[in-house]
Amino acid sequence: MVTQPGSSGVLLMCDPPGVAGRAGTSAPDSRSYGRVMPHEWIRFLHIASAIGFVGVHGASIAVLYAVRNESDRGRIEAMLGFSAKTVLAMYVSLGLVVGTGFWLGFTEPRFFSQPWYWLSLATLAATTVLMWFVARPFGKRVLAACEIRPSGVPRVSDEELSQILRSQQTNVITLIGVGGLGTILYLMVFRPGF
Ligand code: HEM
Repeated sequence: MVTQPGSSGVLLMCDPPGVAGRAGTSAPDSRSYGRVMPHEWIRFLHIASAIGFVGVHGASIAVLYAVRNESDRGRIEAMLGFSAKTVLAMYVSLGLVVGTGFWLGFTEPRFFSQPWYWLSLATLAATTVLMWFVARPFGKRVLAACEIRPSGVPRVSDEELSQILRSQQTNVITLIGVGGLGTILYLMVFRPGF
């Protein structure tokens, strides 16, 4: 253990070099004291969770566009089924993003008083709710349109199915998702003070 001059705290050996008082000019960084896990590792987990979320949700994004040009009902159902299978993993990674985001706030309490922190959380919540009300029903609508009646006649005609698949809803879902993701990325990187 090393006692840092000018502070009453004790710097742990596990802290990365240079975290506290770089070049001996400033006071030790509060992040380095008595933490279960260093701030940098929580940030690592936070970014890894976000990458995991985008990777997993990429399946639904790919399916959203792949079905646009598909006319085979069986293939459309199979693709939507695959997308549905990724939803649980998506929620787990989303939970990890939020959990590690809060954890970062607790290791760096000044974040709690900064607008970008709460705005990014609000944007994530708003994007999730909008997705729930727009993207989720769209998948269900497409699946219902793919159904074949017991008589063997499709519930909706091929033309109607094609219209649903190519409707503006795909663009609306993309706008919500990309808009939400882009806003969060901007807030995380630039941390505007307003
Ligand atoms: C911050 C970014 C995003 C969040 C938080 C988010 C969240 C969600 C949530 C909560 C659902 C509902 C899942 C369910 O319970 O069925 C969903 C579904 C969906 N999202 Fe996103 N999403 C994001 C970005 C995107 C982007 C960028 C796109 C496309 C360009 C997209 C396309 C879809 C599609 C197609 C579904 C339907 C999946 C299915 O029903 O199988 N999302 N999203």
